Amino acid sequence: MKHLLPAASLALSALMPLAGEAAEPVKLDIQAVGTGPTGPVIARQIYGQFAEHLGSGVYGGLWVGPDSPIPNVRGWRSDVVGALKALQVPVVRWPGGCFADEYHWRDGIGPQANRPPRVNTSWGGVIEPNTVGTHEFMDLAEQLGTEVYINANLGSGTVQEMAQWLEYLTAEGDTALARERRANGRDKPWKIQYWGIGNESWGCGGNMKPSYYAEQYRQWSTFAKAPRGNRPKLVASGGQELALDWVETLSAEIKGRMDAITHHQYSLPTRDWKKKGAAIGFPEAEWISTLAVPQTIDGYLNKHREILDRNDPAKKVAIYFDEWGSWYDPEPGTDPGFLVQRNTLRDAMLAALHFHVFHRHADRVKMANIAQMVNVLQAMVITDQDRMVLTPTYHVFAMHRPFMDATSLPVQLAGVPDYTLGQYSIPALSVSAARSVDGKLLLSLANTQPNQPLPLQIAVGGKGVRAVTGQLLTATTMDAENRFETPDRVKPQPFKAEAKNGQLALKLPAKSVLVLEVQP
Ligand code: AHR
Repeated sequence: MKHLLPAASLALSALMPLAGEAAEPVKLDIQAVGTGPTGPVIARQIYGQFAEHLGSGVYGGLWVGPDSPIPNVRGWRSDVVGALKALQVPVVRWPGGCFADEYHWRDGIGPQANRPPRVNTSWGGVIEPNTVGTHEFMDLAEQLGTEVYINANLGSGTVQEMAQWLEYLTAEGDTALARERRANGRDKPWKIQYWGIGNESWGCGGNMKPSYYAEQYRQWSTFAKAPRGNRPKLVASGGQELALDWVETLSAEIKGRMDAITHHQYSLPTRDWKKKGAAIGFPEAEWISTLAVPQTIDGYLNKHREILDRNDPAKKVAIYFDEWGSWYDPEPGTDPGFLVQRNTLRDAMLAALHFHVFHRHADRVKMANIAQMVNVLQAMVITDQDRMVLTPTYHVFAMHRPFMDATSLPVQLAGVPDYTLGQYSIPALSVSAARSVDGKLLLSLANTQPNQPLPLQIAVGGKGVRAVTGQLLTATTMDAENRFETPDRVKPQPFKAEAKNGQLALKLPAKSVLVLEVQP
């Protein structure tokens, strides 16, 4: 946890190299500006969220009920909704996860007093009161101004149940389900952008084989009907980690019936589900092992693309990376079924590295949903009663807002050193460049080395740049975090640098993420 740079030296300048630091600057050249070729558009949904009925991810963290002394709008807490609104959350996936495959939508409509309590068998065996149901979630989505991705229950539900949920949500005419919706307080149909059929069907969603799921999906997708103009994109539940059999089978057997296949990958420092590694106080070996995961994802996304390019050359089927993020040992003293973990600078770094991978594969990866939005796993915000704190992950999402819907640009790099420790070796620098929707030239940089700053020279199309301005996220230790008492320990700082003698040289601090607007 040593840090070689005093905080004051975080303002970048042409300093002398420190011990162990690369003397030669990395040369970074943003390509294809002006009339040159560009990369794909980075779908804003890559910055999507996931809110499951799990621990205090919904109850307590987002929902406090309309009668709570905690300020709220129709039950949704104002502080958390305000913070999330500032992130411009593009899409929220709900109600699970594993929970989705045991959720019965009729339990969550109608008068609160009539809603049946059930056991949340996936997460802690606690009572699911069904206080938050369809109307409440759709209200949250409207308060956030976000798209919705509803995950239907294939695992333990019926085709009829799913078909009727979608009809209840979207029916326009005078049908029995539309009347029921109106009687429950919603006149107009809602817009539903994405409709998932099952979740992790290889595991908690039913322990199916891909060929069996594909058969099921063919039937279920037939009845996922909605009025013209309000048909959600249909999402098939895919595989996880390195498995390729799901994408192979689904893209061969159900193409034409789906808009996307999902994929899940969590980042465990140890790769061992029984002992994943600590969220704080971890050794450097677990810093690098965690940050090595996005590189693996990059590798197998390439393999997924090979399969998809063969089975779906017209690129009609997207990959939705609808669960990703760090997963550590649970916070001591908490219910292990609630997946409570602390969130540090390492998590912010990890998120930035994921963004870069998703940007690189943006022609296929059209959505990604970090797990999860509030209080669960790699959360944006953490709450305790009426208190709320923004995590380092929140800040890195905020810094990357300009990348939503931006057009990615290739970057030529020379002289990037490797950062190596034990069995892991990753590039010391991760980069993504893009042209924002309002025409700005954006550059996101991450120095993965915990102790070495990285000197850089930035050019655009081979020419020097005038200046850069932006925001820098770093801290003095790898496991620096924001607590309720110290909410600003890890927070973006304004950053700027100017060219000297026609050359813009800067020094990227150790363990930092820097998002810049580049002025050529
Ligand atoms: O995000 C927590 C859980 O991880 C989800 O419910 C499940 O889909 C995955 O295994």
